[in-house]
Amino acid sequence: MRKTALITGASKGIGRELAILFAKQGYDLVLIARSKELLVGLSKKLDKQYGVAVTVIEKDLTNLEAPEEIWEELKGREVDVLVNNAGFGDYKEFAHSEWEKQYFMIQLNITALMHMTRLFLPAMVERGEGKILNLASTAAFLPGPNMSVYYATKAAVLSFSQAVSREVRKSNVTVTALCPGPTSTNFENAAGLVNSKLFHSLKVTSARKVAVYGYKALMRGKTVAVEGLSNKLLVLGAKLAPRGLVLTMIDQIQSKLREGKPADK
Ligand SMILES: NC(=O)c1ccc[n+]([C@@H]2O[C@H](COP(=O)([O-])OP(=O)(O)OC[C@H]3O[C@@H](n4cnc5c(N)ncnc54)[C@H](OP(=O)(O)O)[C@@H]3O)[C@@H](O)[C@H]2O)c1
Repeated sequence: MRKTALITGASKGIGRELAILFAKQGYDLVLIARSKELLVGLSKKLDKQYGVAVTVIEKDLTNLEAPEEIWEELKGREVDVLVNNAGFGDYKEFAHSEWEKQYFMIQLNITALMHMTRLFLPAMVERGEGKILNLASTAAFLPGPNMSVYYATKAAVLSFSQAVSREVRKSNVTVTALCPGPTSTNFENAAGLVNSKLFHSLKVTSARKVAVYGYKALMRGKTVAVEGLSNKLLVLGAKLAPRGLVLTMIDQIQSKLREGKPADK
């Protein structure tokens, strides 16, 4: 019997690349996002190219009930790999940010990810087999002025993944936190980052490269997987340097491109 991988945020970017990789390896897929047309287009391509069965679920994961609805729709179908990838950021000083957007970000990046894990993990533990990949970020290791909520959500994803990974270590189930740095996807646009120094100061990686690295780390059962040498060095530096210095450095990187000032007020 073929294995099944469920991927949230599979319509674009890293999630889409992961879907292609899993299909190549012969996994049947459950693909979730809001853009149904993009998911259907991808499912047709993967079915034609790799002969895998793809279930498309159009869902807004900022809705509290969404994970439970997905669970119901799958009617106890075995999920071998859960990829909690859907997420977004917002480039804005917190005092001037739109609260609703921050709330939905927390809902998607943290609540939905934890709820999906809570729903699908028990059956994996019972079977003594299963893998979970959670999309964190190098942001998880840092405080992020002008993207404070986003950085904090990724810190939560990292902490949660490490803790649950330890809880299930005797069950042969693994939990991996994938931590990419700046990656060329729709993320930059969606977060309003085009005018920030972030994607200009740090090395930008392709979504394909991040997905390949994440897939391999997941298969090896790695708990924390930081993609790329420069990101590994950044994370190491953040661990060794005084927090105040790290904060000043990230403040610089997160400032506006032209004026070198904080994000729009
Ligand atoms: N790109 C980077 O620089 C970077 C770096 C580190 C970590 N990450 C993380 O990597 C993950 C993937 O991001 P990406 O870079 O691939 O960005 P992306 O190209 O913008 O893709 C985001 C995916 O999440 C889905 N999504 C967004 N809001 C959703 C919602 N409310 N409900 C369901 N799905 C939703 C999007 O689909 P729809 O719009 O169709 O719903 C899309 O498939 C995120 O968790 C992000 O935080 C990204």
